[in-house]
Amino acid sequence: MDRLNRMPIIAGNWKMNMKREQAAELAKALRELMGDTTACEVVACVPFTDLDCVAAEIKGSNIALGAQNCHWAESGAFTGEIAASMLAEIGVKYVIIGHSERRQYFGETDETVNARVKAALAAGLKVIICVGETLEEREEDLTYEVVGRQLAEALDQIEDDQMANIVIAYEPVWAIGTGKTATAEQAEDVCAFIRGVVAGLYYVELAAALRIQYGGSMNAKNAAELLSQPDIDGGLIGGASLKAPDFNEIVKAASAD
Ligand code: 13P
Repeated sequence: MDRLNRMPIIAGNWKMNMKREQAAELAKALRELMGDTTACEVVACVPFTDLDCVAAEIKGSNIALGAQNCHWAESGAFTGEIAASMLAEIGVKYVIIGHSERRQYFGETDETVNARVKAALAAGLKVIICVGETLEEREEDLTYEVVGRQLAEALDQIEDDQMANIVIAYEPVWAIGTGKTATAEQAEDVCAFIRGVVAGLYYVELAAALRIQYGGSMNAKNAAELLSQPDIDGGLIGGASLKAPDFNEIVKAASAD
């Protein structure tokens, strides 16, 4: 499948880190380091409470604003939740849905992932859908089954023309925050599998245009090798996104690809 038409995408997932002052400083540093990078799409997915101050720092730059979750309803009695349209109205462009930490700690299911994806798309957001197996699932040879199911459920009733606003992040749970990166071969294997599943759910040309990220202990040192794989079009970066020089190195590696 033709890689040339896929713009690499590097997204930082700041998770529950960075109070406002730190967040503004990090965003400013990223902007200064990155200049006018255009060979790679860059997204900062920040805590809800940092969205406005990060938006102010990155305004007019090539860094897009992202959030880490949204609710599936448009409004209503959902104490503590944030609707997709609320994110859109303050300039959020991307939202991460179905991160393994939400599946693990907050009861996220394939069904709620699908509901959130639909709501985010309806609000005009682009969505980074996370999929990935646990260590036990990998050891029991269930990786393809689990990832295939997560994908099919997340994309249930998502129309062909909406797929241009979707990015898939393959994040093996055992590689997240552990320092254990999947080898480039392991990551490529599953990313190629994901492209194949999407080709089956939709059609080959659509799958060829889909951007697939790898996430899980990606850093300034291992990024180039991972990003050189034919089916890996970017990264979803946790820890290393909190250090501007490291994140910038990853963006450079993706831009050089
Ligand atoms: P780490 O890069 O810290 O392993 O986190 C990956 C991740 O979960 C990004 O969403």
